Amino acid sequence: MAVKSVTCVAPVNIAVIKYWGKTDEKLIIPLNDSLSGTLHTDHMCAKTTVAISSKFSKDRMWLNGTEESLDNPRLLACISEVKDRARSAGKLTEEELQWNVHICSENNFPTAAGLASSAAGYACLVYALAMLYKIDGDVSVIARRGSGSACRSIYGGFVQWIAGTNPNGTDSIAQQIVPASHWPEMRVLILVVSDSRKKTSSTSGMQRSCENSELLKHRVAKCVPERMSEITKAILKKDFETFAKITMQDSNQFHAVCLDTYPPCVYMNDVSHGIANLIHTINKFAGRTVAAYTYDAGPNACLYLLEKDVPGVLAAVNHVFHTDTKKEEYYRGLSVDLVDVPEQLGGTKNLGQWPENNALRYIIHTKIGEGPQIVSETLLNSEGLPN
Ligand code: DP6
Repeated sequence: MAVKSVTCVAPVNIAVIKYWGKTDEKLIIPLNDSLSGTLHTDHMCAKTTVAISSKFSKDRMWLNGTEESLDNPRLLACISEVKDRARSAGKLTEEELQWNVHICSENNFPTAAGLASSAAGYACLVYALAMLYKIDGDVSVIARRGSGSACRSIYGGFVQWIAGTNPNGTDSIAQQIVPASHWPEMRVLILVVSDSRKKTSSTSGMQRSCENSELLKHRVAKCVPERMSEITKAILKKDFETFAKITMQDSNQFHAVCLDTYPPCVYMNDVSHGIANLIHTINKFAGRTVAAYTYDAGPNACLYLLEKDVPGVLAAVNHVFHTDTKKEEYYRGLSVDLVDVPEQLGGTKNLGQWPENNALRYIIHTKIGEGPQIVSETLLNSEGLPN
């Protein structure tokens, strides 16, 4: 059977200036600009194969091994925007554009951990479709229609998403600020926190904040514009101290907005707050900023830090949360030399210990990486069905 297919991988991104609130729910136009680091696809990524053929009788999609319906307005918006662009690019025949599409996608990290997977997933889908239908130019504007934060996963390094001013969203796009190679020492530790509470989704949480949080108005009008400009300068200068302070302040303000929402959206738990406390404690002992925390709409901590500080910070985290570090798959991602808690970070005497065992499930050690890429291994066979 003649099947045309493309397979891509796309990264996760973690915002340091958070996106929270939309001016248009359907077009996914944000209230404010935002900025993120793109994480390396070796350690966390979505992988998607898209295929078209005259023989496919309908559109079909498989996500992490299960067939799902395509009857989702965001998904359909992405597919139809790609096809519209493809039609004007004119590289496929009208007949090929009419063929049904098969989509197969999976993540290389557990989705159950509540780690942002929709951003990588939609970025991967849109990028793969863009390659298959041979469209040129920016596709972040299309990925945005899947999930707002997905537009930032279209580029590597540090990326800003400009809210834009056009009511139809055409200028609400992501742009790279610097490539991954600009700050090669930057590392990221994702501390996956055990938690079973059901969370309000980002989509409905931010909707509620827009309805009634006064603090969100102040954040959008005053804080975000100032922070965007300051953190961009800090990234260009590789000024970790400033970068880290703004990152932590913005995460704290985002969660303050969530609490200012009525009824409140509570995403961080006691362990999340315990990690934030620990970071402030070790930064104080060190007399400099060794790490910055940030939290999305869930309890997991994401730490930005420089390569030289990874062993010490990990030692402090493991000491305080006295996790069984020998547990299989506790450390994932880049390897690291394990050390005792350095005296400069407070040493074991001064840091205290968390009252419960196994508050952390596992840790992913990664770095800043590139945007989506085409790969050779495919998830669909020559019949267009999952392997
Ligand atoms: C807290 O992009 O998941 O992670 O656009 O409704 O799909 P939708 O929301 P989503 O929101 C992400 C919110 C955040 C902050 C961020 O990534 O900037």
